[in-house]
Amino acid sequence: MTDSAKEPAQQVAAAHEAFEREFERFAPFCGSVSANNLTLKQAEHIARELTELRARHTGKKSAIASCKKLVGRVAAEERASFGHLVQQTEAGMVQSLDEAEHALKHFIETARVERESIDVTLPGRRPRPGHLHPITLMRQRIEDIFVSLGYAVEDDREIETDFYNFDALNIPEGHPARDPQDTFYTTDAFALRSQTSTVQIHAMQRRGAPVRMIAPGRVFRRDTPDPTHNPMFYQVEGLCVDRGITMAHLKGTLAEFVQRLFGPETKTRFRPSYFPFTEPSAEVDYSCFSCSGPGCRICKWSGWIELGGSGMVHPNVLRAANVDSEEFTGFAFGLGIDRTCARIYQLDDIRLLFENDVRFLEQFR
Ligand code: FA5
Repeated sequence: MTDSAKEPAQQVAAAHEAFEREFERFAPFCGSVSANNLTLKQAEHIARELTELRARHTGKKSAIASCKKLVGRVAAEERASFGHLVQQTEAGMVQSLDEAEHALKHFIETARVERESIDVTLPGRRPRPGHLHPITLMRQRIEDIFVSLGYAVEDDREIETDFYNFDALNIPEGHPARDPQDTFYTTDAFALRSQTSTVQIHAMQRRGAPVRMIAPGRVFRRDTPDPTHNPMFYQVEGLCVDRGITMAHLKGTLAEFVQRLFGPETKTRFRPSYFPFTEPSAEVDYSCFSCSGPGCRICKWSGWIELGGSGMVHPNVLRAANVDSEEFTGFAFGLGIDRTCARIYQLDDIRLLFENDVRFLEQFR
């Protein structure tokens, strides 16, 4: 080699040496990677470093790339051998890089497959099947009875305007009956309904009269939680409006209902009461399904258990829902599902129903 080509040849040697120095630690991977006791994470890291090494030593800005540019500058008679030297050096580097990369890739792929494979001989995890909540079971029993009596089941909104929650139910602003039913308000004049009686109005507006429906659903009140109160609980509303409906129909319907729910011996009792949206109004009790009269722990030694409120629909309510109060009369009732559920399952505290304690809920499978 003449002097004019010496310097470029030294550059090639320097490029090769620099590569060899850095590649040294990757050389062991050219054989079998698993022999090096690598973890998958380590192998992935080394593969990334190898890619960087390739870019540094064979990329556009690498020393060997600069050597290639010198080929045109060396004397014509040296050009072929210099070109050959550059080519050979680069090919050697690329081959070493390819071998290490191939071995690493193979190792990574195998390790990934192993990691994702399932050992079918491992013992399985037993699925824990869910089941219906006791309130849902109770609601379904109530729905079944009323559907068989010819009632439609209405589902309605839980967020209401004052009109449906109070005004249309004959409870104008300032009426004392708003107090015990105080509820939760949003900033834009909506309220969480405090009773399912709101559905009476929606149902009559939607269906007109005659109408016969029940509306089970969630209601909300600013009641402090205790064994018989929750700020969120379930009610089922009943409404029957037609020509010639009387208090006798109300009594007959609820008597039939409790007999189907608790047994044919069950008796009903109506106590005079007051609700602004019914006139006359009554609280309904049924004879205790456990002791049938003499008194026990379940009926708190009275022989009777409260079912809910009821009465004849007030003409103002019919009018608010655009039903002709001269032609139609109706009865309505509202029962508390949580308390009825607690009585049937002999729970001391209705709060148990919403504590989400699996040990409690699993008993209703
Ligand atoms: C009413 O809510 C009337 N809307 C019922 C009604 C409907 C009367 C149609 C006339 C005609 P009252 O506030 O009494 O009535 O509630 C009815 C039932 O809801 C109660 O008997 C009780 O079982 C249940 N209840 C009331 N407050 C709570 C509470 N905080 N937690 C759990 N259950 C409750």
